[in-house]
Amino acid sequence: MKFGYFDDRNREYVITQPDTPLPWINYLGCQEYYGIISNTAGGYSFYRDARLRRLTRYRYNNAPMDLGGRYIYLRDDESHQFWSPSWQPTRHDIENYSCRHGMGYTVIGSTYSGIEAHTRYFVPLDENLEIWQVTVTNRRATRARISTFASIEFCLWDAQDDATNFQRNFNVGEVEVEEGVIYHKTEYRERRNHFAYFACSVPNAGFDTQREAFLGRYRGWDSPAAVEAGQLTNSIAHGWSPIGAHQVKLDLAPGETRQIVLLLGYHENPANQKFDPAGSQTINKKTVRPVIAKYLDTKEADAAFERLGQHWDKLLGILQVSTPDVHTNRMVNIWNAYQCMVTFNLSRSASFFESGIGRGLGFRDSNQDLLGFVHMAPTRARRRILDLAATQLATGGAYHQYQPLTKRGNNDIGSGFNDDPLWLIVGVSAYLKETGDRCILDEKVPFDNEPGSEKTLYEHLRRSFAYTLERLGPHGLPLIGRADWNDCLNLNCFSSTPGQSFQTTTNKDGKVAESVLIAGLFVYVGRELAEIAKSRGLNAEASTYLCKVAKMEQIVLEHGWDGEWFLRAYDDFGAKIGSKECTEGKIFIESNGFCALAGIGLDDGKAVLALAATREHLATRHGIVLQQPPYSKYYLNLGEISSYPPGYKENAGIFCHANPWVMIGEARLGHGDQAHDYYLRINPSAREEISELHRCEPYVYAQMIAGKDAPTFGEAKNSWLTGTAAWNYYAVVQWILGIRTTLNGLEIAPVIPKNWPGYKATRIFRGVAYHISIERKGDGNQIALIVDDSPIAGNIVSPPSDGRKEVTIKGILR
Ligand code: BGC
Ligand code: NOJ
Repeated sequence: MKFGYFDDRNREYVITQPDTPLPWINYLGCQEYYGIISNTAGGYSFYRDARLRRLTRYRYNNAPMDLGGRYIYLRDDESHQFWSPSWQPTRHDIENYSCRHGMGYTVIGSTYSGIEAHTRYFVPLDENLEIWQVTVTNRRATRARISTFASIEFCLWDAQDDATNFQRNFNVGEVEVEEGVIYHKTEYRERRNHFAYFACSVPNAGFDTQREAFLGRYRGWDSPAAVEAGQLTNSIAHGWSPIGAHQVKLDLAPGETRQIVLLLGYHENPANQKFDPAGSQTINKKTVRPVIAKYLDTKEADAAFERLGQHWDKLLGILQVSTPDVHTNRMVNIWNAYQCMVTFNLSRSASFFESGIGRGLGFRDSNQDLLGFVHMAPTRARRRILDLAATQLATGGAYHQYQPLTKRGNNDIGSGFNDDPLWLIVGVSAYLKETGDRCILDEKVPFDNEPGSEKTLYEHLRRSFAYTLERLGPHGLPLIGRADWNDCLNLNCFSSTPGQSFQTTTNKDGKVAESVLIAGLFVYVGRELAEIAKSRGLNAEASTYLCKVAKMEQIVLEHGWDGEWFLRAYDDFGAKIGSKECTEGKIFIESNGFCALAGIGLDDGKAVLALAATREHLATRHGIVLQQPPYSKYYLNLGEISSYPPGYKENAGIFCHANPWVMIGEARLGHGDQAHDYYLRINPSAREEISELHRCEPYVYAQMIAGKDAPTFGEAKNSWLTGTAAWNYYAVVQWILGIRTTLNGLEIAPVIPKNWPGYKATRIFRGVAYHISIERKGDGNQIALIVDDSPIAGNIVSPPSDGRKEVTIKGILR
C-alpha cells in the first residue's frame, strides 16, 4: 500500500493521505537556520544547534503523535466552523489533501467546505528565517468570510532545559509586539543577544502570545478557544509559555485567491546594540526590520523560492544518471543525494528519531558522511575535515563527538572507540579524490584544539594510522577499545547496572578484545594512505604502509578466518565472536562486508566464500541482517548488542549502513546482479509499495529495518540521519555504476546487472562535464573506453590537458 507517489519531474514526493504510518518529514534550510516539517505541518525550527538554539517547541513521542508545528487554522466566520488545511492538528475530513515534500521546501494543503488552502514552507538561501506562503481560494459560488490563524509555540532556547526546568522557565518568558510583529525575547534581558520573530504580511485582526489565552484551559492545539471564538485576544505573555499567533480576516469573492506571507526568523544583534533606546529593555529592531519587510513581500518570497530551486538544480546536476531502473535513477538523481546533504548538515541531531538534544557531530559519522556529499559541497567538506581533525588527540585518538557550536570534542559521550581515527583517512581520501586539492594536506591543524600543537593534516592521517598499529591485541588484530563501528559490541564494558551507558562504561582494561572489522578498515585505509603518500612523492613511506597492510591482511586470513567466513572479533577472554563455534552470533555482516570491500581474500577465494555465507545466512528479502542467530539473552561480555530484542537494531536488525559494504564486496567480485539486487532490497523507492509495512518515508533511507527474527520483520525505523545515506550512494554510484573518483582522474568501472543494456550519466568532476554512455555488448565487466572519439588505455580518464570543459566517454562492456 502506498500513501502517495513520486513526482520525479518536480523532484517531489507527494503524500495524498495525511495519516501516514509515521510522520513523514522533510527538512527546511541548508546553512544555519533549519527546520523539520512533517506531512501534517508538525516539527520545529532551530538555529545551528537543535539543542541550544531551538526556536519552537515540539512534543516528541506524544499522543497523538507529531504535535507542535507550524499550524494554520481556517475559520468560516459565517458558519463558525474551523479546520486545519494540513489535517493536523484539528484532523477534520478534508478533501484533496496533499503534501509535496521537495528539495528544501514543503507544500501542504487541502480543501474544506469549498475553501482551498495550501502553505508553502521554505528557508531562503543566506537568511535565518523561514517563509510560509499561505494561499487561500474561495471555490464556492458565494462570497466567503474566512479568518486565517497562524500559530507556533516558542521554545525557551535550550530544548533540554525547556522540557525539564519548569520551576525557572515558567517565570522567564518574555515577548514584545510591535507593528504586528511578535518578538520572542526570553533571556534577551541578560546574556542572549538573539531573539525570534513571527511576522505576518497582512494587517492583523488580532494576535496572541500567551498560550493559555489562545488555547483556553485544558484545551489542545486541535481546538484553540480563540480560534473557535473567531477572535484572538491580543494577549502578552509574562512567563509560562509564549506563543505566536496571528489572525487575518479575508473576504473572498467566488474564485478569489489571497496570499498571506508569514515569517518565522532568528536574529542576533551586536552585543552593544541590543536595546533601542539604549539603556531600555526594548529590543533594537533596526537591524531586523529590513529583512522582515523584504520577505513579507510576495514577489521577494517567490524570487527566494526560485533561487532555492536553482541551488538544488546546480547541486543535483553534478551527477545525473539514466539507467533502466527507475529506483536507481530516482534515488541517485534526487532523494539519496538530497538525504546525503541533509545528513551532512545535521549529522545525527534532529529527526523524528533524534530528539535534537542528545548528540553532537560524530567523528566517525561525519567522516563517512563525506562520501555522500563531497561532490556537492567540496568547500564545506574541506571545512568539516579541518574541524574534525582539530579535535583529534595527539595520540591519534579521537573524541567520539564534537559540539557544532563550540567545535570542541565532547568526552561525556565516551572515547576510545578504536575505529574512529581511521575514518579520518576515509574522509580525507574521498575529498582528495573528488577535488584534487592536495593543499589541504599541508594545512596546519591543532590537536584537541590546543593552540601551538598544530601539525599538517597529513601528519594527522599518519597518527590515525599509527593509532591502530600501537593498539594490537594477542593475535595481532586491532584492539577494539570501547567499541568499533558497531557501537553496541561492547567487549570491555561488562555492565550489570541498569541504565548505565554502554557508550561510556569500561570495566576492563581492553588489552585482549580484538576487532576484525577494524582490521578490514585498516587494510582499506592503509591502501588509500599509501596512494596519498605517493602523491606527495613519499614512496618509501607508501611502501611501509603497504607492508603493514600486507601483514594485517595475513593476520586476518590466519586469525580472522573461521573456515567459511570472517570472524567478527575476539572477546575479553580471547573467545571468538562470529564463529560457527558460537551458539548465537555465529556470523556477522560487518567483518564479511568490510573485508571483501577492502579486497581481503580476493585472491585465495576467501572473499567469495565469505560473501556466499553472507548470502546464505544473513540475506533476507528486506535486506541483509547484521548477524545470525540473534542474541536471545543479555551477555555481560557483549554489551548493548544483546540488550536489544532479537531482530532489532544491532541485534540482527537489517542495519542498512552495513549493507552497501556487501554490495561493494560483490561488485569487487564482479557480481553485478547480486550487488544491484541487494541495493534494491533496501532502496526506499523500491519499497514504496509496502509502505504500510516499511512505515518510514519511501523517499529516504532508514538506519534499520527489523530483521527476520523480529515480529515486525520489514518495518523500518530511524529514517533520515544515518550513514546509510552516504554508503548506499557511494556503493551504487562508484561501485555498481562504477563512476569512481581517483586521485588521478575519473575511473569508469561498471559492474551492472547483466540484463541492463547500459546506462547514461553526466558527471561534473573538477570543473569538467563528463557525458558518459555505457553500452553492454557482452555479459562481463570488461570495459573499453573511447574518450572524445579516441580509445584510451585503461579505464581512468585524466582531466583534459587542453582545458576543455565537456568530455564524452563511451564505454563498451563485454
Ligand atoms: C544505538 C547505536 C548508536 C549508539 C550511539 C545505540 O543505542 O543502538 O546505533 O550508534 O547508541 O549513539
Ligand atoms: C549509529 C551510529 O551513529 C554509528 O556511528 C554507528 O556506527 C552505528 N550506529 C552502528 O552501531
